[in-house]
Amino acid sequence: MGISQMGLLRSSCSALCHGPRAASVLRPSAVLTRQISMDTQNLVARLNSSGLLRSQCLIGGKWTEAYDGKTIPVHNPATGDVLVNVPCMGGQETNDAISVAYEAFLSWSKLTAAERSKRLRKWYDLLMANKEELGQIITLEQGKPLKEAIGEVNYGAAFIEFSAEEAKRIYGDIIPSPLADRRLLVLKQPVGVVGAITPWNFPLAMITRKVGPALACGCTVVIKPSELTPLTALAAAELALQAGIPPGAVNVVFGNAPEIGDALLASRQVRKITFTGSTAVGKKLMAGAAQTVKKVSLELGGNAPCIIFDDADLEVAVRGALGTKFRNSGQTCVCANRILVQEGIYEKFAIAFSQAVQSMQVGEGFTEGVVQGPLINEAAVQKVESFVKDAVSKGAKVLLGGKRHSLGMTFYEPTVIGDIKNEMLIARNEVFGPVAPLLRFKTEEEAIRIANDTDAGLAAYVFTENVQRMWRVSEALEYGLVGVNEGLVSTEVAPFGGVKESGLGREGSKYGMDEFLEMKYVCLGNMSSS
Ligand code: SIN
Repeated sequence: MGISQMGLLRSSCSALCHGPRAASVLRPSAVLTRQISMDTQNLVARLNSSGLLRSQCLIGGKWTEAYDGKTIPVHNPATGDVLVNVPCMGGQETNDAISVAYEAFLSWSKLTAAERSKRLRKWYDLLMANKEELGQIITLEQGKPLKEAIGEVNYGAAFIEFSAEEAKRIYGDIIPSPLADRRLLVLKQPVGVVGAITPWNFPLAMITRKVGPALACGCTVVIKPSELTPLTALAAAELALQAGIPPGAVNVVFGNAPEIGDALLASRQVRKITFTGSTAVGKKLMAGAAQTVKKVSLELGGNAPCIIFDDADLEVAVRGALGTKFRNSGQTCVCANRILVQEGIYEKFAIAFSQAVQSMQVGEGFTEGVVQGPLINEAAVQKVESFVKDAVSKGAKVLLGGKRHSLGMTFYEPTVIGDIKNEMLIARNEVFGPVAPLLRFKTEEEAIRIANDTDAGLAAYVFTENVQRMWRVSEALEYGLVGVNEGLVSTEVAPFGGVKESGLGREGSKYGMDEFLEMKYVCLGNMSSS
């Protein structure tokens, strides 16, 4: 069964696809002049002249239009401006990308680890040299404040640097043989062509976290970034080419998501699917990958508890909860989704936390001092609104915010809601927005029970000064990541991934390399024993 038959990817973007471009290639500036504000227009023109603002997909090292000429607009969520029109590709283009990735695999996988490492290191250097421009592209298409966007470039580039280093450490093994005339070896070999499907909330870092280790291991990739944020992916791919990653080793296609997903899943040449996104889509990808028994790694939705105990340092707890809740305006899989506060500290925490939230400046990501950008689209705002409405109708109290921001568009007020119960929609599902729900609890056992009462298991946070409790609670939480007295735990050197329905496999760190490797046992017989 194809993924479109299964209704796989969230929604087909084909409805958004426009007819063929007027000219075979419309440069961004040609598209922009009539449609966007002066400031954005100037910025886009500058980015365009830097060569980083690409408006075509990348297949086999060639910048390519959709074969039928269809396009799809990319918007700035803060203003609604159409930044550029990009190709709306489908199954045919994806199959071609897979073929060239397979060809490239035959040579890329044969390079020495040292050579792959050098090119990855060069890619890292170029990402860092262009971090201002990459940050601007992220802010333009995703909305996060520029400082945070440049932070994402540092974070994303670090996965390439780490992979360049780790490429040289993909060791095999020698096993002591039980028979004197045999030698037993384990080789680690690249899995093959990888399909990497990535989300809009980290348009760079979710790509580099997959593509860095894939290339380091000798794999080649077909990337399908989100149609909402394809420009960062294209800029990163341009820099990969400049770094000497050979044509075909990194390909980027997007447009008709179900068709692209179907093609990746059905292909026998694609040996691995790596995905970050919703649990619902992850489950369908997992089922679809069974057709050809591909390896899968899935980084799916979370429902992170952030537990504040009576014995927490209030200042540390407020700072940590703020960091984990409001990063990227609440649009990360590891954002605190439920803030569990012990009854003895509840009132004090609610006041201090609400004051800190109130001081956060909301606005367009290029404005100095802004720390909260818009949500990605109208559907995201409507989801937040419906969760808040449900909570209030069931007795929760809005302590701060609770409605759309006066800036309009998809801006939402940073919000704190008290008296949340774990049965409410907002506590059962990822809100993916700037809303902090506070739940009151009495005992450690109750907190652990509430925290684990979910199908998700990505990130959890604990705030306490008691060392024994730190250990006890960290061990009891059914989560892949635990932050103790810290709300920001992601780093390229540590394994990132969830348990239960939050996913399979790990990204980043030395463990993330294994996701792109096959183990081969070689038995050498008839060996002399003396
Ligand atoms: C995500 O939201 O999927 C990733 C967050 C992170 O890398 O910290």
